Amino acid sequence: MSGAPGDDTVAPPRPLAGRRIVLGVTGSIAAYRAFEIARRLQEAGATVDVALTPNASRFAPAFTFRNLVGGVVSDDLWTTAEDPELHVALGRRADALLIAPASATTIAKLAQGIGDNLPTLTALATRAPVAVAPAMDSAMFAHPAVQANLETLKARGVMIVGPERGRLASGQVGLGRLSEPADVVGATRALLGRHDGALRGRHVLVTAGGTREAIDPVRYVGNRSSGRMGFALAEAARDRGAAVTLVGTQAPPPGLYGVIVERVESAEEMRTAVARRREGIDALIMAAAVADYRPAEAAAEKIKKAGADAAPVLTLEQTTDIVAEASGRFIKVGFAAETEDLLANAAKKLSAKGLDLIVANDVRSEGSGFGSETNQVTLLAPGEEPAALPLLHKYDVACAVLDRVAACLEARAR
Ligand code: PMT
Repeated sequence: MSGAPGDDTVAPPRPLAGRRIVLGVTGSIAAYRAFEIARRLQEAGATVDVALTPNASRFAPAFTFRNLVGGVVSDDLWTTAEDPELHVALGRRADALLIAPASATTIAKLAQGIGDNLPTLTALATRAPVAVAPAMDSAMFAHPAVQANLETLKARGVMIVGPERGRLASGQVGLGRLSEPADVVGATRALLGRHDGALRGRHVLVTAGGTREAIDPVRYVGNRSSGRMGFALAEAARDRGAAVTLVGTQAPPPGLYGVIVERVESAEEMRTAVARRREGIDALIMAAAVADYRPAEAAAEKIKKAGADAAPVLTLEQTTDIVAEASGRFIKVGFAAETEDLLANAAKKLSAKGLDLIVANDVRSEGSGFGSETNQVTLLAPGEEPAALPLLHKYDVACAVLDRVAACLEARAR
């Protein structure tokens, strides 16, 4: 929900700050979508260079990219104004090379090591991780030559993003559509995380959203959680290179590329999913607002209105505490959503639930807690002084939590 207090006063997150990304654009009808990809990369804080093939610039002119990004934009191998060996310079300073959209021809060139234009030469010159997002007609995509070339790239460690099934330039529906720009950017963030992130090789399980406990087939007992805090944690863990599983009650937002999502509804369903998925994890982060009580019995049919004197009475029973019962060698992080005595109540939960870290969340303060883009929290760990964070975007809160998780894991490994 945007428009909550704090939404427009807190700096937006910049998960790609300090990163330099070369966006290679090739000749495809989907090339116009690279404008949005470039814009999103730039908004995420990256310095973006754009390398176009001559064919790409027919679909998406270099001029337009120059208005979108702060880095070098070029479709010309022979112009030496930027650098006499632009492809070498671009490749050397890149943190990642993303080719989106990647045509069948460019995929073939990449597989064979042919460099005859700026993106393909940059691909040869760079040692940075590479992601390729194919876009083409479905028959072309299914061609054995294209598939073999993609396999070659995968075997070389190149990340292949998409394509998706959808309406194609031909008007037909099939597999070949460029992945959504949000997903392409999400994939680039995952690529960078897997390359040098503090949680690469780790597995993080996150819960998100509010559970719904059925009263009857149409009504439930619920809470105001939007899932945003949990989604931000999943994104931040993914950006640090972790394999991430999210058990949540809400549909994930676009851009959560690479995160395995399991949708659940009730506390009991969440409990079962967490129990099933916690094998081999390195950290469990319970951001979900799980019901403490549920109707003892859900009516089989919709409860009928029967007048003021016959108002139904709900009998509640306690749910199982998911995080308290979860035991293993993983780091356990809980949240405490409080409306009073924040630190005292959070400290009680920290020890009662056997947590390594609790995120004390004052859900009454402005711009904080349920539904907002931002959150104000204090981190509490056993034997440590509470660390209060300012009002931050939920992604930045998630980064602070994940940095603590990474430090805990590193300390345990020593
Ligand atoms: O989803 P958003 O709109 O972004 O809002 C974010 C949030 C406010 C929901 C989030 O920041 C938050 O505070 N989540 C925890 C909410 C909560 O249920 O807190 P609690 O104090 O009641 O529970 C303490 C901890 O025990 C939590 O980690 C909870 O997930 C866990 N728990 C609770 C009950 C239960 N049966 N099983 C549990 O594991």
